[in-house]
Amino acid sequence: MSDVKIESILHENRKFNPGANFAENAHIKSLAEYEALYAQAEADPLKFWADLAEKELHWFKKWDQVLDWQPPFAQWFVGGKLNISYNCLDRHLTTWRRNKAAIIWEGEPGDSRIITYDQLHREVCQFANVLKHLGIQKGDRVAIYMPMIPEAAIAMLACARIGAPHSVVFGGFSAEALKDRFNDAQAKAVITADGGFRKDKVIALKEQVDLALADNASPTVEKVLVVERTKEPITMVEGRDFWWHELQKQVSADCQAEEMDSEDMLFILYTSGSTGRPKGVVHTTGGYNLYTHITSKWIFDLKDTDVFWCTADIGWITGHSYIVYGPLSNGATTVMYEGVPRPSNLGCFWDVIEKYRVNIFYTAPTAIRSFIKMGEEIPNSRNLSSLRLLGTVGEPINPEAWMWYHRVIGGERCPIVDTWWQTETGGVMITPLPGAIPTKPGSATRPFPGIIADIVDLDGSPLAVNEGGYLVIKHPWPGMMRTVYNDPERFRHSYWEHIHPIDGHYLYFAGDGSRKDEDGYFWVMGRVDDVISVAGHRLGTMEIESALVSHPAVAEAAVVGCPDEIKGEEIYAFVTLEGDYAASDSLVSELKDHVVEEIGIIARPKVIQFTDALPKTRSGKIMRRHLRNIAAGKEITGDISTLEDMTVLDKLRGQEAKHH
Ligand code: WTA
Repeated sequence: MSDVKIESILHENRKFNPGANFAENAHIKSLAEYEALYAQAEADPLKFWADLAEKELHWFKKWDQVLDWQPPFAQWFVGGKLNISYNCLDRHLTTWRRNKAAIIWEGEPGDSRIITYDQLHREVCQFANVLKHLGIQKGDRVAIYMPMIPEAAIAMLACARIGAPHSVVFGGFSAEALKDRFNDAQAKAVITADGGFRKDKVIALKEQVDLALADNASPTVEKVLVVERTKEPITMVEGRDFWWHELQKQVSADCQAEEMDSEDMLFILYTSGSTGRPKGVVHTTGGYNLYTHITSKWIFDLKDTDVFWCTADIGWITGHSYIVYGPLSNGATTVMYEGVPRPSNLGCFWDVIEKYRVNIFYTAPTAIRSFIKMGEEIPNSRNLSSLRLLGTVGEPINPEAWMWYHRVIGGERCPIVDTWWQTETGGVMITPLPGAIPTKPGSATRPFPGIIADIVDLDGSPLAVNEGGYLVIKHPWPGMMRTVYNDPERFRHSYWEHIHPIDGHYLYFAGDGSRKDEDGYFWVMGRVDDVISVAGHRLGTMEIESALVSHPAVAEAAVVGCPDEIKGEEIYAFVTLEGDYAASDSLVSELKDHVVEEIGIIARPKVIQFTDALPKTRSGKIMRRHLRNIAAGKEITGDISTLEDMTVLDKLRGQEAKHH
């Protein structure tokens, strides 16, 4: 981390106040109200969270202790009993919401389904019984590898209902990545589909699962459940593979929600870290339920009449927290869309908004940048007047993209919530509350009540106004990850040991650099570790390097991010070859395909540059900062005196762009 200098070049003075009408009707109505809540939570965080837990959730049994904090390990609502599927379903059935739309689903080919709370409850209960029938018990891990269809949400809720932690793997990952995750989680079952539709093509999901299970490569997996989606031919292994729809018919729709301990594991979600293999981020039941519930309510200002649409995939934390658990816990109507903008339908997002009169729309800056490129005629030709609130997540949004979103999509009337958070934080941490906090384009503004955030240096000392530094969280919060699955030391090391306050106080360091301006607004600048963000997806450079090196032609590889107008960053790989291999364009394609095979389509490098050597320090560390500069086409600046071989950099610059 010492290789990094955090500097901000952004100067932005525009400020937008919430509209009077919006503020008047919002859950949190004014800056004064936010500040009072914030002060109250800061003064007595345990009371703040306990009061909310009492008011907002259903508990089978109340907790004995609000927080047990043995740094860096937290337990929230200790001794409390609840079930998140009960909070997302059962408790709404005794109200008028029983026949309200829970999920509005639109398939890529144009098919659609509207599922009421009552229907969703029934399907979840049935599938929970299917899981039990196949021998899945409380505590068993279940992997979910599915397209964006309602069954994905049903599978998650059914797992939660019987207390089997789920681990959802994004459909863009390959068999190799699946295998690693199945094994790390020791998954007992896998829920998948025959395939999924993506950009007018069929993705063969079941085939990837078969590959991940072949030759006993994932020995813990006993059963595979398959949803029929594309009807493409697949092979079903007798005794191992079962059709979802066949088993659903054989079970009852009666399934009590298991009484879960507040700290029972709800799910594992794998995320890229700066070192080595993916980390299994563990979230537990009570704290996560409360945190996603209250952030959904206040940040998206959820009302019973709203149609809320988060465009994320269920394979990422944003889908977990803001398609499934947060909205459903609130009894809201949540939209699930299988498609993404594609050449055959560039305006599909706007069609979905128009068709279902979406009120709240939550997407990523990378999507917004691609909309800008497509031109405003596309959204302008649709009726977007139902929208009242917009949100973004995943990476910093550049102020011009923010302004475009505000003007073209929001018709200058919708507040924008730029939400900063991570897989590890469970829910949004820094964000405007839309009726209360004036926004500035490019800033995630201020911390959510109960979140004590700051900008510090490596000693944990707070920095001055507008000085760039490390973004840290100073007090535990209910939605925080509890550990890295099966690796508590890795949890401690990855998040709690980078910043060293002299008083020994534990600070959570998120991996992001930021500054805080004179109004206390946070301006997140991006990751300071070896993680790159491609279209908002976090990828570890190490994983991509390992994938490259596993190819026989590659001796060494170094991967960095290079700026890309639409995706934020693209993958740029520097590769040295084994003696008897020669650089060629066909080897470039071969290596790109190899990475796709090893990790998945999301990790395909944009550029592979062959080099005779990589620039290293005398201690053998690859000097990524210089490689980043070369990848970005910038001149090398700063201290290069520690370079082992000064000529390496000159050579690299000379070779640039030869083999793209
Ligand atoms: C980045 C996604 C700036 C950040 C919820 C973080 C952001 C990483 C923002 C987490 C934002 C997310 N402004 N940067 N509003 N939101 N990030 O785990 O670098 O997939 O650390 O969680 O995305 O990515 P993850």
